[in-house]
Amino acid sequence: MDKPNKRILSGVQPSGDLHLGNYLGAIKNFVSLQQEYECFFCVVDLHAITVWQDPNVLANKTREVTAAFIASGIDPKKNNIFVQSQVPQHAQLAWIFNCVARMGWLNRMTQFKDKAGKNSENVSVGLFSYPTLMAADILIYLATHVPVGDDQKQHLELTRDIAQKFNNDFNTDLFPIPEPLIFGEATRVMSLRDGSKKMSKSDPSDYSRIMLTDSAENIIQKIKKAKTDAEPLPENKNNLDGRPEAENLISIFASLQNSSFEKVISEYAGKDFATFKKDLADLSVSKLEPITTEMNRLMNDISYIDSILNTGKEKAISVAEPVLQKTKQIIGFLSK
Ligand code: AMP
Ligand code: TRP
Repeated sequence: MDKPNKRILSGVQPSGDLHLGNYLGAIKNFVSLQQEYECFFCVVDLHAITVWQDPNVLANKTREVTAAFIASGIDPKKNNIFVQSQVPQHAQLAWIFNCVARMGWLNRMTQFKDKAGKNSENVSVGLFSYPTLMAADILIYLATHVPVGDDQKQHLELTRDIAQKFNNDFNTDLFPIPEPLIFGEATRVMSLRDGSKKMSKSDPSDYSRIMLTDSAENIIQKIKKAKTDAEPLPENKNNLDGRPEAENLISIFASLQNSSFEKVISEYAGKDFATFKKDLADLSVSKLEPITTEMNRLMNDISYIDSILNTGKEKAISVAEPVLQKTKQIIGFLSK
């Protein structure tokens, strides 16, 4: 069993349509990291079923996330792209981590509180224990780095706590303490309708998000309708206090352009939002349309997508299985 010092694992759920937040907060960063790290990119369908998924669409969504990875520029030959439920070692390690993580730790998870809302008696047990599965996704590969959007920071802290506690409890150094990689100008993309809510797959309003499957006309329309305020763009960042919608659109612009927030502000200072939105719409279409076109092309070639996932699965299992066996041996389970 090798102990890598630069290995990435990250996951994206095949629930709903991928949106600009997924792209700018996560997938775009995966693309930039693939040269430097050995990468495992996982379509996390076990996570998706923590809320009910329609069996008639789940398989298609799983392939669509795979297509989005490839269309965005992840080289499927160089990286391992695979489906979580096809690698049973994730769920096996997750059970062990359920016995390591403490109730108090999980009770603090804000994503659970947000998703469960007032309905906490009636959500699945899986939704509550979700972060222990995420820890297993990462640690079953002994991954050292995890690129994610800002919303996953707390889950990564929990992953680190689980790794540390397991190592202490069993007097081992098996698991690394993985580092989050949260970077770029749009680590938390907000809803286009409400700058206080993050852009998400589950928002009932289609106008709250730009999806990777949107046509150019849809993108233009959504940006045109995006909420802003009556003021022009400010001279500097400090003048954006209390203007979350304006701040969000500027961050999106900077990230899409691979530029910086400050640079975009200085370019547009004093201009009105109608002008800015027009340029943002043009920029969005120019960056996203090629990805959408390539995703559509790939989705017409399901056998190619499945062959990538099959290769990814075999590689993933070959790395995960020895780590699982080692974990079981450390715990004192009878070996095979
Ligand atoms: P999910 O769609 O929940 O599976 O998220 C997949 C990846 O996208 C994770 O790394 C998230 O942190 C990231 N992500 C999701 N929503 C946003 C958002 N609104 N802004 C930035 N990153 C996001
Ligand atoms: N929890 C992540 C999200 O909702 C998805 C995820 C599952 C993940 N397992 C992971 C991200 C492992 C990074 C590493 O966005």
